Amino acid sequence: MSSSMRIKGPGAIRGEVAVPGDKSLSHRVAMLASIARGRSRIRNFASSVDCHSTLACIERLGARVERSESGFIIHGTGLWGYRPVEIPIQLDAGNSGSTIRMLSGILAAQNFTSVIDGDASLRRRPMRRIIEPLDLMGARITAEAETFAPLTIAGGKLQPIQFASRVASAQVKTCVLFAGLHAEGRTEFTEPAASRNHTELMLAEFGARIEIDQTTPHAMSIEGGAELSPVDYRVAGDVSSAAFFIAGAIALADSGIVLRDVNLNPTRTAFINVLTQLGANIATANVRTEHGELIGDLHASSSELKTPAQGFTLAGDIIPNLIDEIPILAVMATQVEGRIAVRGAQELRIKESDRIKTVVAGLRSLGGEIDEFDDGFAVEGIQRLKGGRVETEGDHRIAMAFAIAGLMAAGTTEIIDADCAGVSFPEFYDLLDAATGGAHLEY
Ligand code: S3P
Repeated sequence: MSSSMRIKGPGAIRGEVAVPGDKSLSHRVAMLASIARGRSRIRNFASSVDCHSTLACIERLGARVERSESGFIIHGTGLWGYRPVEIPIQLDAGNSGSTIRMLSGILAAQNFTSVIDGDASLRRRPMRRIIEPLDLMGARITAEAETFAPLTIAGGKLQPIQFASRVASAQVKTCVLFAGLHAEGRTEFTEPAASRNHTELMLAEFGARIEIDQTTPHAMSIEGGAELSPVDYRVAGDVSSAAFFIAGAIALADSGIVLRDVNLNPTRTAFINVLTQLGANIATANVRTEHGELIGDLHASSSELKTPAQGFTLAGDIIPNLIDEIPILAVMATQVEGRIAVRGAQELRIKESDRIKTVVAGLRSLGGEIDEFDDGFAVEGIQRLKGGRVETEGDHRIAMAFAIAGLMAAGTTEIIDADCAGVSFPEFYDLLDAATGGAHLEY
């Protein structure tokens, strides 16, 4: 069912906002708990629809999930202990690239056949990047046109490999490391730039024998064959969900917010660093380490933002650490004095939507100006947005980015298929409604 939302601008964002548990951490902890030996306790698991796709998959594979007020207990089966409800097992990853790509690493090692599929958007996203290493390890995978879901994975015994990924993708890295857990011997993995490192940190929590090359953090290896120990894990708040409120609080007048217990892993906080360089009032407090992850509180408030005189180009190694925040960064750039360009971000074209195209079309329909490149865009601010109609193409981050843009605009913004925000952040509109005083959102 599609839904639309109307946002009346201009607005302000104030108060304390409780962002849900991190999506990346939740996928990983659910999958690893499902193959650990014994019961893992997980608190603050993401409310994201994507993460619930992962939970449904592991349940169909035979891992028992007990739900309670305080969280979940996942009864792990051991590395090769899945007992699927049917064979071949049919699995639905929904809209979730993380579910299909990461879980495939585990499925490739099981002694049964799995078919994993997803929605129309997921069926358009490239899977060759995981099929190639899994093939090399000995799995037999068939896909539409050799790259698209549904994937049929005939699992079996895996051999370790040395794999140099051509893309800096944490999903690819996770897939290979999860497969490597099951291979006899040491699997080595490198990527061209460091993508988010949650898998490496979490594998260590589960007792896996993972080694990171200290001189090049994007080179690592894992020793396969040893069972994982269960964990008692509290998922930190999602900084990518927080990013929408941070952006609003900084770019809108009379605004200020507090966000507590947010994941501040340095491979996820490039967005915060960029805003700081542009002059944003943003501060961290209570910073500590939990489960190897940096966590803390964030305070952000209205700021005057400006690029250096020559403008600001974001490109290269920073892109993987900023990737999910680029839509909201494009929106923010309209409120920054100077020119901000994003280049080398062609991966955006193969996310839940072609995010370069949806961002460019969205901003233009609000009366904004943006230059489009094959691998990015450029925005020169400060611009006065007028409001308009935004096609989200079913992409959660586009819906949320333009809801914030709607608060920057002078008129009304209509977000088509606004409900898709639930893919990562089901509480988004309720929290935004409360933080804007209840008079700016119309369902
Ligand atoms: C994710 C990695 C990123 C990101 C996605 C979640 C993860 O994808 O865009 O939302 O949890 O590993 P890629 O690693 O494919 O770039």
